[in-house]
Amino acid sequence: MTEILSTPLDRAAESVGNIVLLEHYNCVIDDQRLATLFYVTAMGGTRDPYLFTGLDNMWVNFGRTQVHMPSRGHPPVAQRLRGTAGFVVPDLAAMAARLDFVRAEMARVAPERGHLFDYQVGLDAIELRCPWGNRIRCHAPSARFGRMELGLSYIEFDVPPGTAAGIGRFYEQVMKTPVRLAQQGVEVMAGVSQSLRFTETERPLPDYDGHHFLIYLADFSGPYQWLKDRGLITKDVDPHEWRLEWICDPEDGRRLFQVEHEVRSMRHPLFNRPLVNRNPAITNIDYRRGNEAFAGDF
Ligand SMILES: [Fe+2]
Repeated sequence: MTEILSTPLDRAAESVGNIVLLEHYNCVIDDQRLATLFYVTAMGGTRDPYLFTGLDNMWVNFGRTQVHMPSRGHPPVAQRLRGTAGFVVPDLAAMAARLDFVRAEMARVAPERGHLFDYQVGLDAIELRCPWGNRIRCHAPSARFGRMELGLSYIEFDVPPGTAAGIGRFYEQVMKTPVRLAQQGVEVMAGVSQSLRFTETERPLPDYDGHHFLIYLADFSGPYQWLKDRGLITKDVDPHEWRLEWICDPEDGRRLFQVEHEVRSMRHPLFNRPLVNRNPAITNIDYRRGNEAFAGDF
């Protein structure tokens, strides 16, 4: 016999769109010492122990997500997201306590080159600038971020006036993922609790410098065909990956915002690979065996 529930359940709230994971952003850097101080010592990430362990690239784990930082070019040119990367970290107070040390260390190890590292500790978030000027916002875990206690929750891009509605149409109609209106922009749902946000700003944007982010799609071929037919695929990398660079309005083809999307299928060998995450609170003084790994949810 079918049980009738007294309160209707919101089944739509449980649906996940076509973007199943926002996995990393990738910005070229020029000094791994500063990246280590920022992403590992300050933010509490964990350097990927398995891939790119040399000096030409470093991957830093945050839960199921990463930040990728290759060093390229002579001299290498650092890249910046045109927006803010939003992370969830398990303990904001513990992170705030590490920041003065990191500021002093940055000045000590790189006096000759300088850096843009800065931070502001707020009531419910810590705003940071990475050594190359990327804007990072760290939040404590809360219902707003689903179950995530450590990870890249969102990237919020600054976009030109008059583009957000078309960007929303692009992700909804072409990328086939839910979009909702946000303040001065749109929010594109990714995975069970992540998002890409596009917020209109009057401020002039810097030129696009080639950074990228990675999303995994459930329907990998549908968006591909639409983009291919319009000449918008910029790279056919391999059977599991393609790239696009321009977000276009599907209504009129207008190019709205440029940022490289690294797009992979869920059959890509790296999809959902287990990532090592440490407990950043542990020290040599209070070490307890078995307490080394991050124990929260991601
Ligand atoms: Fe990438």
